Amino acid sequence: MTGQGSSKKIKESEQALKDLESIVFQTDSPAATGAFGALLAQGLEAGDFIALEGDLAAGKTSLVKGLAAGLGYAGPVTSPTFSLLQLYEGGRLPLYHFDVYRLKRPEELEDIGYEDYFYGEGVAAVEWSNETAAYLPANRIELKLSAGASQDQRRIALRVLGSREDWRQRRLQQFACLLKSYGVEE
Ligand SMILES: Nc1ncnc2c1ncn2[C@@H]1O[C@H](COP(=O)(O)OP(=O)(O)OP(=O)(O)O)[C@@H](O)[C@H]1O
Ligand SMILES: [Mg+2]
Repeated sequence: MTGQGSSKKIKESEQALKDLESIVFQTDSPAATGAFGALLAQGLEAGDFIALEGDLAAGKTSLVKGLAAGLGYAGPVTSPTFSLLQLYEGGRLPLYHFDVYRLKRPEELEDIGYEDYFYGEGVAAVEWSNETAAYLPANRIELKLSAGASQDQRRIALRVLGSREDWRQRRLQQFACLLKSYGVEE
């Protein structure tokens, strides 16, 4: 009986750790999603990879606009749906903005030398990253955007993925701290 009790305890604490790995935020306008991106940008480092998931109009591009602004890029940001990749240079770090929605085959990423961007000197932000799952770096910041309670609300679930627990915890805490003005839903 004692054994069963302690294994249950371990399960519960494992669950608690798992819950800590995902933080859910909420925004209530496109501008707020952009501001969320700008705050997140303050914690970004060279080589970071941001995987953006979410349906059409979930707010992925709105968030990338904020990332670019937060990195100090002053030019326009548009969805790279037809060009696959747009480079925003001149800020604190270069930002490589991908939208892989219209890729016919994920292997097309190899034609443009994706490694230079996914493992480069700047920050990569990839819309529809789930379409190219096999190419995603193991260490990445994942943002899943979804509809909120009302038309202008969005939920943003942030996870840090990677094999090193200390790295994941450090980055997650860093982002939680930067983004605390958006509140933690769960
Ligand atoms: N809280 C919000 N955050 C972001 N966008 C919002 C929000 N509320 C409403 N919107 C609207 O949702 C749309 C989001 O468009 P956006 O291009 O950012 O989405 P997307 O996820 O990049 O879409 P796509 O899959 O087509 O690339 C815009 O029309 C925006 O005005
Ligand atoms: Mg988009």
